[in-house]
Amino acid sequence: MSEIATTPSHSSPVAASPVLSTIAAIGQHQGQSVTLRGWLYNLRESGKLLFPIFRDGTGTIQGVAHKSGVAQEVFASLKSLTQESSVIVTGKVRADKRAQGGFELDIEQVQVVQRVPEDDPYPITPKEHGVEFLMERRHLWVRSSRQAAILRIRAEIMRAAAEYFDSNGFTRTDPPILTPAACEGTSTLFPVDYFGDEAFLTQSGQLYIESTALALGKVYSFGPTFRAEKSKTRRHLTEFWMIEPEVAYCDLDGLLELAENFLSHIVQSVVKNRAPELQVIGRDIAKLEAIQAPFPRLRYDEAVKMLNQAHLDGHLEHPFEYGNDFGSPDETWLSSQYDRPVMVHRYPANVKAFYMQPDPLDPQFALCVDVLAPEGYGEIIGGSQRVDSYDLLKARIDEHKLPLEAFQWYLDLRRYGSVPHSGFGMGIERVVAWLCGLDHVRETIPFARTLNRIFP
Ligand code: 4AD
Ligand code: MG
Repeated sequence: MSEIATTPSHSSPVAASPVLSTIAAIGQHQGQSVTLRGWLYNLRESGKLLFPIFRDGTGTIQGVAHKSGVAQEVFASLKSLTQESSVIVTGKVRADKRAQGGFELDIEQVQVVQRVPEDDPYPITPKEHGVEFLMERRHLWVRSSRQAAILRIRAEIMRAAAEYFDSNGFTRTDPPILTPAACEGTSTLFPVDYFGDEAFLTQSGQLYIESTALALGKVYSFGPTFRAEKSKTRRHLTEFWMIEPEVAYCDLDGLLELAENFLSHIVQSVVKNRAPELQVIGRDIAKLEAIQAPFPRLRYDEAVKMLNQAHLDGHLEHPFEYGNDFGSPDETWLSSQYDRPVMVHRYPANVKAFYMQPDPLDPQFALCVDVLAPEGYGEIIGGSQRVDSYDLLKARIDEHKLPLEAFQWYLDLRRYGSVPHSGFGMGIERVVAWLCGLDHVRETIPFARTLNRIFP
């Protein structure tokens, strides 16, 4: 876009030529003429007045043009402007308390870059559309103020998450996406033909960053991960982004502390840096401001007692069967009991992954944690201390009927300088859903991949 000339042809030597601005920065130019490069979001007409709303990716602003206040061709071209036509507009910035964002633009010039034809109009009109209709047009839907705000909040979550690790002594080490073996259970792998051999898309970088943690001490990975589970819930994507720290010489207690400080940093960064976006989507900021470490800790056994009581009190349909992993309704209810994330630890070892260290005080429990987000959002983080004994890990691999050959290198980490170490994984989209107050993860990622959707 930068090739397009922005100095209007009518500039005179006395009037300062308009400066290029963005809508987000327009407050710095009150009383001046500015040029904005964007799109027509909506157009309202009232008698001799036109009220076009422009968007430019940084926000929206309402323009005002009176028939007698602008050149005839400017008025005409504005009046016939179609939704989502690309335009470069110049106008004077005027503060207006009633306006969203606090400013309006008194229009002077309009240059249409591409006009959306009348007989092939932009398909997403300001009227209500069903979610399926919008998901089918996701490549356009991302232009709506609400979707754009969600994507900006997502970007801030990812930025703050990486920032936390980068400024606390962690080194980012990226694991491979093509892997020869399972990390989180064989039933949810996407197979790939790897030159005639079977390979899989990674479910988690964990096994690999256990290796780099023993090399570098504190590491993290950040990338896409894949799960082929046939889940149709509002929390499941088949492709999602996970950030995973792994720390040598760290036990479960150290991990819980890391998780609560990490999450507090992310939430407070979003509150601080994305307040306008939170306002666009109507999120209650007070609820997010409350998210400060320390977080409550709850043993699995205590959580089960609470769930049973909730069933007796009529809050949960089914009684909870001790020894199971929590289902979605259980997590939803549990997490709605607290105003900040709750860290549920020490689940029965047999419902959790093969690599989790048993509690020395009672080995039927695993030294693991699930962090459940408040307001009913459920699990956003899963992690554990890792088995550090060679013999126990080998026995676990056998018990889970995993191919020993593929795990030889992983066992090496217990053969050569094994130490207690711990880590967790946080799914970005679940956190976006929680912080944005969304009821489904499909709006938390630019292009969601779910059981029923791989388009566009
Ligand atoms: O609990 P999970 O399966 O844990 C692991 O993968 C560990 N290997 C991580 C580790 O210890 N390094 O997944 C971690 C997180 C979940 O808490 C959830 O936030 C997210 O990843 N997640 C999903 N998000 C969206 N769709 C799915 N299908 C997800 N599965 C997991
Ligand atoms: Mg989990």
